[in-house]
Amino acid sequence: MLAMNYRGPFRVRVDHKPYPELQHPNDAIVRVTRSCICGSDLHLYHGLVPDTRVGTTFGHEFIGIVEEIGPSVQNLKVGDHVLVPFNIACGSCPFCKQELYGNCHESNPEATAVGGIFGYSHTAGGYDGGQAEYVRVPYADVGPMVIPADLHPDDAVLLTDVVPTGYQAAEMAGIKPGDTVVVFGAGPVGIMAAKCAWLFGAGRVIVIDHLEYRLDFVRTYAQCEAYNFRSMNDPVLFLKKATDYFGADVCIDAVGSDAAGSALQTITGRKLMLQAGSATALHWAINSVKKGGIVSIVGVYGPTDNLIPIGNVVNKGITIRANQASVKRLLPKLIDHVRSGRLDPKAIITHRVPLEEVSDAYHIFSAKLDNCIKPILIPPSARV
Ligand SMILES: NC(=O)c1ccc[n+]([C@@H]2O[C@H](COP(=O)([O-])OP(=O)(O)OC[C@H]3O[C@@H](n4cnc5c(N)ncnc54)[C@H](O)[C@@H]3O)[C@@H](O)[C@H]2O)c1
Ligand SMILES: [Zn+2]
Ligand SMILES: [Zn+2]
Repeated sequence: MLAMNYRGPFRVRVDHKPYPELQHPNDAIVRVTRSCICGSDLHLYHGLVPDTRVGTTFGHEFIGIVEEIGPSVQNLKVGDHVLVPFNIACGSCPFCKQELYGNCHESNPEATAVGGIFGYSHTAGGYDGGQAEYVRVPYADVGPMVIPADLHPDDAVLLTDVVPTGYQAAEMAGIKPGDTVVVFGAGPVGIMAAKCAWLFGAGRVIVIDHLEYRLDFVRTYAQCEAYNFRSMNDPVLFLKKATDYFGADVCIDAVGSDAAGSALQTITGRKLMLQAGSATALHWAINSVKKGGIVSIVGVYGPTDNLIPIGNVVNKGITIRANQASVKRLLPKLIDHVRSGRLDPKAIITHRVPLEEVSDAYHIFSAKLDNCIKPILIPPSARV
């Protein structure tokens, strides 16, 4: 079958790989109909995530048709069109029982922090992902959900990660009616976080990025203010001025370890790798939230350490909340928001690329060319 194949930093290609096999009675094999490239894949592509092995297939955002099921699978049948959350979760460990599906204790033998994630290095379990024609889906009775007939497949694929992550960013931020919310990052996740902030009653939403085309998009899509940090001497001072010098009620980091904007962070985090990526957006979030405010982090920071201003966190009495999104927990609510028209996920898709051109798709998305916001990959069998 055709599959994306990681060959080292900034090098991916499409290759022929063996068709995946059932390895456990509760596995399913899914024929992919769409998969996305995510900002999280860029951390892998840029070589920032340890133990990203040559030969692995990325892709944690995908939907597809069930081709085969193991003998114990009860909730799926061959032919179902399913959306598959990016978290691989057993459904029965103490953390899954609390609906912390991103922190499953069983699905990732490599770590005790994050659970398993499709196509996200051996630090997240070493599973192959869905940027391929077929993918093995473990715990098939737990994660996959049959796509309701009235849900567009383009919306469904965005419900595997981006929409729940943006929503959870706003949820963790504990937004109270009238709050001023600052979102760092106008990528797919930041765009969704800004949109969802209104659902929690925000009074004002401000988005910060440095890509004008994304700022233009989010201004219209999420009806918010949007500013370019390159046009400011100091983004923290700018945000203080914009909030009566108190600071924002909540700040959301939807950037993570690939952040631009600070030479020191870029050199230590992304070039010399003395820390796990650049924490520029997180610094700005901590320093521009008000005293007693909340910083919600969904931007990914790879293991293990980053330099962050913990003294400011303590002295300002900031609450930090962070996690991988718990997709399965949020799906029923989010499908309702899509059905009602309050959320329109597919509007962020800018590029539809044949799987065979995966290498170009990564380059375009990584270099932010051609006004790219969200690319989806379509395997050949889904194009006929
Ligand atoms: N926690 C989760 O469950 C989860 C799920 C999906 C994605 N993520 C993470 O969310 C982050 C965003 O994902 P995405 O798909 O939107 O990625 P993306 O790369 O498309 O977007 C990131 C945006 O941040 C902007 N940016 C860079 N430096 C900045 C700075 N200092 N301040 C403000 N903006 C800055 C970039 O220009 C870009 O537009 C990534 O770190 C990704 O790994 C987390
Ligand atoms: Zn993702
Ligand atoms: Zn579990």
